[in-house]
Amino acid sequence: MITFCYTAGGHFPTYLSSKRGDLMPAYVLVGAQWGDEGKGKIVDYLAAQTDLVVRYAGGNNAGHTVINQMGTFSLHLVPSGIFHPETTCIIGNGVVLDPAVFLAEISDLRSRGVDVSRVFISDRAHVIMPYHILLDQLEESAKGGLAIGTTGKGVGPAYMDKTARVGIRAGELLDPISLKPRLQQVIQYKNSILTKIYNSEPFDLESVFTQCVEWGKQLKEFLRPTELLLQQAITHGKSILIEGAQGTLLDLDHGTYPYVTSSSSSVAGISGGLGIPPRDVSAVIGVFKAYCTRVGSGPIPTEMPTDIGVDIRERAWEYGTTTGRARRIGWFDAVVGRYSSRINGFTSAVLTRLDVLDGMPTVRICVGYKINGEIVEHFPSTTTLFEQCEPIYEDMDGWNEPTVGVTQLSQLPKEAMRYVKRLEELIECPIRLISTGPNREETIHIEPLF
Ligand code: GDP
Ligand code: IMO
Ligand code: MG
Repeated sequence: MITFCYTAGGHFPTYLSSKRGDLMPAYVLVGAQWGDEGKGKIVDYLAAQTDLVVRYAGGNNAGHTVINQMGTFSLHLVPSGIFHPETTCIIGNGVVLDPAVFLAEISDLRSRGVDVSRVFISDRAHVIMPYHILLDQLEESAKGGLAIGTTGKGVGPAYMDKTARVGIRAGELLDPISLKPRLQQVIQYKNSILTKIYNSEPFDLESVFTQCVEWGKQLKEFLRPTELLLQQAITHGKSILIEGAQGTLLDLDHGTYPYVTSSSSSVAGISGGLGIPPRDVSAVIGVFKAYCTRVGSGPIPTEMPTDIGVDIRERAWEYGTTTGRARRIGWFDAVVGRYSSRINGFTSAVLTRLDVLDGMPTVRICVGYKINGEIVEHFPSTTTLFEQCEPIYEDMDGWNEPTVGVTQLSQLPKEAMRYVKRLEELIECPIRLISTGPNREETIHIEPLF
């Protein structure tokens, strides 16, 4: 039998002390709606109790906001546990990595006094190349009215190359001799698409190659076979918080296809995106916003009337963290919530942004749909049907007293409590943590999440 022993070159001090390792190896936090549920805030809050925080899917299409004693941060690639000095942060193989964005993020964090020596990237993570970014933008323009409304960061084209088996992986940037012929083949192919289909300028092999070699030099200190680090962490009883990006309704298979992202953002992506077996993931926590938002194209049946939507958007600053685009705002859709809960098997839930509903005379919850006059209580499989869904609402009394900043359940107004309880019933999952503001402390931790 081979006894495996991989050491992370002295960069893995958390092996010495376990924070929650005695309780369970890995638990995941997944966005339950269309992304931007407040995952970054919750991960930052929970990471104090966790040895490792890891990303398994998406790329810098994600924008996770963290506000704590160190300042306000928008993280696109670095996991949101980075502000806890003993927490190791891993970008798994399922993530697509734009080296320029990653290096800029690292440099920004360093300049703000954040220790980034505990960040590792899987050497199997696929690289977002300059041609991916251009193709993302050209493909979107070519789609005209049917555009997905992507973030334009090259994420979709990078995943396309991964499945087409012509992608470049981060570890390959360290091996220029093998890289060159692979790059030559890909660039030749991409250039014919760029010039012949899109009438665009071709890429110059030498300059892309030089850029890749330079990236390799700068990324070297971060690259690791991270699946081994994770497996070893599990063996040593460390606790791992898996940070979802995007949300379940943006999942390639289970979301509102084709208005989705190009990865498995639901719980389905974890094992493939990290190299750990499903049996090691012991709890699945869904993060729900107290209402719905969506950025990019695609239906959102509960979209609010413009005046209420605009009021919430401005008060709650519902603008994309990555692109700055205005988010569309809808009432809480419990059909979507229950679907998400069942797809992911949520063992508990987190409710964020409850405070944003403060002062609303009535709060609405969508409990079913009508399609051509017929009542439907499940999430339809085609976008054409989803577009036809007319929400059936249950109206509840709003609350006048503020919930913003509340940290004790007993301080919540009774109407807010009733709203939370009703959501809990509808999503078939206990809500164990409520967020009442963007800051780390503005949190009601009702009971342990698992
Ligand atoms: P993520 O992508 O899921 O991490 O979410 P984003 O960071 O893109 O968007 C969530 C926004 O809500 C950010 O601006 C957060 O600072 C903010 N936020 C998170 N939780 C709360 C909360 O409970 N109340 C309020 N008012 N804002 C919150
Ligand atoms: P976080 O992790 C919200 C959306 C885009 C677009 C669709 C496809 O911050 O919650 P892509 O660039 O991925 O090909 O775009 O997915 N989208 C997100 N929306 N939050 C995100 O991430 C998103 N990541 C992608 O707006 O509709
Ligand atoms: Mg976001």
